Amino acid sequence: MKIIDNPVALQQELLTLKKKGKSIGFVPTMGNLHAGHLSLVQLIKKQSDIVVCSIFVNPAQFGENEDLASYPRTLSEDIQKLEALGIDYLFTPTDNQIYPHGKNKHSSVELNRLTEHLCGSSRPDHFKGVTTVVCILFNIVQPDVAAFGKKDYQQYQVIKAMTRDLMMPIKIIGGEIVRESNGLAMSSRNTYLSKAEKEKASTLRQTILSTAEQIKSGTSLEKTIENAINNLKRHGFKIDYFKVVRQNDLQEAQQTDKSLLIACAAWLGQPRLIDNLELNLN
Ligand code: PAF
Repeated sequence: MKIIDNPVALQQELLTLKKKGKSIGFVPTMGNLHAGHLSLVQLIKKQSDIVVCSIFVNPAQFGENEDLASYPRTLSEDIQKLEALGIDYLFTPTDNQIYPHGKNKHSSVELNRLTEHLCGSSRPDHFKGVTTVVCILFNIVQPDVAAFGKKDYQQYQVIKAMTRDLMMPIKIIGGEIVRESNGLAMSSRNTYLSKAEKEKASTLRQTILSTAEQIKSGTSLEKTIENAINNLKRHGFKIDYFKVVRQNDLQEAQQTDKSLLIACAAWLGQPRLIDNLELNLN
């Protein structure tokens, strides 16, 4: 595995490989790799000749009061995990290499739909930061295919929409959520949970599963959402949102919609946890 921090050097190496007919697969990450990230690498390995992974904690997608400074940084462990999977390139740029004029003076990419509700309501500039950095990374790596985890379902749809809108010839694939044995979706932010909180956090998954059962048995969406919110509050969660939306446009679902996403974000102690479930009726 070659570790490169210089964007132009990586771009040139990969362009040379592309000219030789090699397909490039890409997994962008912010590091602190867990089994969810590694499953994305495995997915991409099956679809491309050359596998590139990036580790960059992107300052532009963190809000003023968020955890940029304390975000877990575990580069040497991450390198070992990626070496073990046999990837070809790891890209580890600095803030200055990605945003030489500072993040606020850099050109940005913003999607004019899909970004304002769900996570966008409590994290106003988050998706602008994500689309900007992913666009920069895509221009450096120029992948044929890139993978994003479906735990961040809104991000996955936003990236798909960005590539369509901007005519980027990149196939976006979504990786299924990987979970701890108690059902908690894997996330780098789970490191902020105490042991007791980690156990309690499984309630999020259980509540979403119970919501799916209630919807399938015909309970109104309004009532199931109310039940879910009450249950989470009873278990000590502070709710950001609990919604049932349509999978494709993330707009609030109507009783007649069939391709649903049950999506939730809630704080348990310090971290804000997110989870979701795709529910296809019929
Ligand atoms: O999902 C993430 O880890 C980040 O949002 C991403 C896609 C690497 C962009 O910084």
